[in-house]
Amino acid sequence: VVLVVDFGAQYAQLIARRVREARIYSEIVPSTMPVSEMLAKNPKAIILSGGPSSVYADGAPSIDRALFEAGVPVFGMCYGFQIMATTLGGTVDDNGAREYGRTPLKVTRSGSTLFEGTPDEQSVWMSHGDACSAAPEGFTVTASTDVVPVAAFENDEKKLYGVQYHPEVLHSTHGQQVLEHFLYRGAGIEPTWTTGNVIEEQVALIRAQVGDKRAICGLSGGVDSAVAAALVQKAIGDQLTCVYVDHGLMRKGETEQVEKDFVAATGARLVVVDAEKRFLDALAGVSDPETKRKIIGREFIRVFEQAQLEILQEEGPEVAFLVQGTLYPDVVESGGGTGTANIKSHHNVGGLPDDIEFELVEPLRQLFKDEVRMVGQELGLPEEIVQRQPFPGPGLGIRIVGEVTKERLDLLRDADAIAREELTAAGLDREIWQCPVVLLADVRSVGVQGDGRTYGHPIVLRPVSSEDAMTADWTRMPYEVLAKISTRITNEVKDVNRVVLDVTSKPPGTIEWE
Ligand code: XMP
Repeated sequence: VVLVVDFGAQYAQLIARRVREARIYSEIVPSTMPVSEMLAKNPKAIILSGGPSSVYADGAPSIDRALFEAGVPVFGMCYGFQIMATTLGGTVDDNGAREYGRTPLKVTRSGSTLFEGTPDEQSVWMSHGDACSAAPEGFTVTASTDVVPVAAFENDEKKLYGVQYHPEVLHSTHGQQVLEHFLYRGAGIEPTWTTGNVIEEQVALIRAQVGDKRAICGLSGGVDSAVAAALVQKAIGDQLTCVYVDHGLMRKGETEQVEKDFVAATGARLVVVDAEKRFLDALAGVSDPETKRKIIGREFIRVFEQAQLEILQEEGPEVAFLVQGTLYPDVVESGGGTGTANIKSHHNVGGLPDDIEFELVEPLRQLFKDEVRMVGQELGLPEEIVQRQPFPGPGLGIRIVGEVTKERLDLLRDADAIAREELTAAGLDREIWQCPVVLLADVRSVGVQGDGRTYGHPIVLRPVSSEDAMTADWTRMPYEVLAKISTRITNEVKDVNRVVLDVTSKPPGTIEWE
């Protein structure tokens, strides 16, 4: 394993992903973890991430010198570079030599371990206030910028390396190459980690965990639960029962996709609960977005628990495991990435008899989203499931502005299906993060169709580009594609006489309208 020490910014996750892209397994640990504990994990290399602090700020995170004396190769980036410099006796000044954004870097020693084979001048991404003016003793300076005399250094003998910039971001044009030089050449690690290994390893772990007991998995139609279920199915076959709650708020063809394609690809036992009426009854007369969300969430849990109870009664009380598609970012963000590699945690599912406790099976806990997709692909899941764009749990219920009724849902399903069809045909599925299609059910406008006046509803297209859904921009889509979608929706969908484009970024708008 390669450890990425997190100094408290969002960079650590990206670094961990880049290490895995180099086909080496990586894990994130907090900078507060004692060095002895880090070393107990037997890391083949350690990377110190960037962070928000100045090394001179009050309470700035520090690192025990012992880390650099254990014989483990270390690579410091940005804040990690500066802390390496100060800890080992170099000089970092807070003299206002700040650099932000794209910066030209001059490689001053081209035969260096990190920069071998990369251009003498390359573009890198900087984000720092302080600057290193003298490398620690025994280190060679390997690069500089107009502002910073020491922008990279290395001590090949001790296998210690550092760069002032962020090699993990794409704006650093040779960043991945520099990182790989550290991993392969500096630390001498072989790139052997693949999604095939992950599947094998997880199948063995799941078998050991579940034994001859039974497990239940809730399928949402999304990527994560589908891949988790497929992986568990591969491990324990018919000991797994999948439950899919059809709340009637899915898009056209989605329930069938789970019913047919997922089962065909995995051979999983699937129970589909038809709860459309129950959800629509509960939503009748409600137009407030938060109230809708609460109702849908509450009903969902009730229906799912009811289904579990029925399965328990049918199959006996030995159903003891609940499969969940928890991903690595969730684990890291909830502060749980630091414990030992333990995929078991006890979880009381509300509403079930007190004496039944489910143990969680979370086979994707180590993986990032793109890795989950690769695993899904390798397990033979269809492209439509594996490459699916995000879709909110409350479904179309929060894409109808106004009260949710069956008639309105059907109308929105038709419009949404047209938009998706045309976006796919135009090859835009990867470029667009997601494209909510929204029905303004409480709005009417005047139109003309054929010879007659119409008084219909507008449909909103909300195509967005994003990396993580935290921020987003509206996608500059080709006009021809927009024109085609608009023409088709107004021609083919009853009661819709207008299509509008949402040109708001996030913030200030959210991606969904409710
Ligand atoms: P917003 O609208 O907050 O959406 O910008 C951010 C991302 O989250 C999705 N989303 C949800 N996903 N349950 C989910 O599983 C929800 O209740 C939910 N609400 C929004 C949304 O589609 C976007 O990708």
